[in-house]
Amino acid sequence: MASAPVAQMPMNPISLGCSDFTRDTDVTTQELLHLLDLASEMKRNPRRFATSLSGRYAALLFEKPSLRTRLTFELAMKQLGGDSVTSAGLIGEREPLKDIARNLDRWVHGIVARVFTHRTITELAQWSKVPVVNALCDKFHPCQALADVLTVREHFGYTDGLTLAFIGDGNNVAHSLLHTCVRLGMNFRLACPKNYEPDAELVAEARAMAPKAEIVITNDPYEAVDGAHAVYTDVWASMGQEAEAIERRAIFHAYQVNSELMAAAAKNAVFMHCLPAKRQQETTDDVMESPQSVVFDQAENRLHTQKALLLTLLQ
Ligand code: CP
Ligand code: NVA
Repeated sequence: MASAPVAQMPMNPISLGCSDFTRDTDVTTQELLHLLDLASEMKRNPRRFATSLSGRYAALLFEKPSLRTRLTFELAMKQLGGDSVTSAGLIGEREPLKDIARNLDRWVHGIVARVFTHRTITELAQWSKVPVVNALCDKFHPCQALADVLTVREHFGYTDGLTLAFIGDGNNVAHSLLHTCVRLGMNFRLACPKNYEPDAELVAEARAMAPKAEIVITNDPYEAVDGAHAVYTDVWASMGQEAEAIERRAIFHAYQVNSELMAAAAKNAVFMHCLPAKRQQETTDDVMESPQSVVFDQAENRLHTQKALLLTLLQ
């Protein structure tokens, strides 16, 4: 499962085999590589795509707060010559989800939704005639993983054989990274406290789709980080888990990514975080600000990878 080299020749977008991006595995490995190549091309040559989605509109639905996802999707639609409208609030509270989906698909060409439960995404996809993109749910954050692997590939020039160590909660970001990294020939290690492991079914899926990848789930952060090329962390309490934040701070205490833990990684390792970060909890200010930190490259790449995704789904 070798990853293709970064494309240098101008390339044209293909249509994806899927009609929605509800989770990472909705796109095949080949399509994933195409999205990364297209994102690189769009990053190099944004003007070439300035009218690609002219006259196309997206509805952005947010049940939870967002800085990066909301603004990069809005900018992505504008930079492709289209536009977006945004609505905040719980989906299905004021009127049934199936009615919302069938209103939206009369007005827009795609729906991007950040929701509490994955079921909301799959039901939106089921009821709407236009593509639905998961902009984060309890189980996945597939748009984040796209930007993250592009960042890794840009930094190292390849992904095959690299090891990413995720330290912290076995959460939505971890699941998406697991399902995306292993399909690009990467190894994936995750260290978390007992009872905060990633979903066992999703880990089994990853093992089945990438039997050659090293996939390690451990409670020892040093075992996970040992020689790793990328060290990744995320908040200890995700959106919706605010009531557990104090309890989790105590439980996750030993899982902070600080300079001591970074020293156990490969010499040329990068530090990654999806942001927003809680400094002095899951990581430290010096690691965030260190030359190893690529967190703002990740944030930038949200824009480019989402442009590639929107173009292939909405064109
Ligand atoms: N990383 C990410 O999804 O950021 P936002 O919550 O600000 O969208
Ligand atoms: N795991 C975090 C990611 C935020 C981008 C959350 O769900 O809140």
